[in-house]
Amino acid sequence: MPIRAVVYASEAISEIAAGGLGQADGRLCAIIDDAARFNRDAGVTGVLLFDGERFLQYLEGPEDGLSVAYSRVVGARSHTALVELQRGRVGNRRMPFWPMRWLPVQAQELTQMARADWTSFFQRGDPTAPNAFGMDLLLGVVQKQVATC
Ligand SMILES: Cc1cc2nc3c(=O)[nH]c(=O)nc-3n(C[C@H](O)[C@H](O)[C@H](O)COP(=O)(O)O)c2cc1C
Repeated sequence: MPIRAVVYASEAISEIAAGGLGQADGRLCAIIDDAARFNRDAGVTGVLLFDGERFLQYLEGPEDGLSVAYSRVVGARSHTALVELQRGRVGNRRMPFWPMRWLPVQAQELTQMARADWTSFFQRGDPTAPNAFGMDLLLGVVQKQVATC
């Protein structure tokens, strides 16, 4: 089954940004629980990066499930100023680890990722390369977590 993906950046509303990165029982956890429940049934996996003010989320899955999950994202009132960075087919899943999980990142990391080249979700395989693609940077952050869990 062809796998499609979408990546976007957005800004958290002030109630969420007020919690900063210490969101253990906060509204962000409720969003993630709800998102993961939906994504699990829809065959969608991915990750949500949060720097305390902004989000960058990557989602992938079969077309039907992904488009419903993404329409829930677009309709959510907990964030604004959503900018889609890329949407399209990926050969195989790059982010099979979680139905959804949020990871804290530095503001600078999120900015670098939002400005990176997301053309066709290409990867060079080295997140430290000066010309790393967005997908390389994202996988660099995620794989640190996967390796330590
Ligand atoms: C940053 C963010 C990421 C979300 N990610 C997903 C997702 O991966 N899958 C999904 O089905 N819904 C997702 N949602 C939607 C939430 O699960 C929830 O339905 C939504 O936030 C509804 O509440 P709200 O309108 O008060 O934000 C996301 C929402 C936000 C704000």
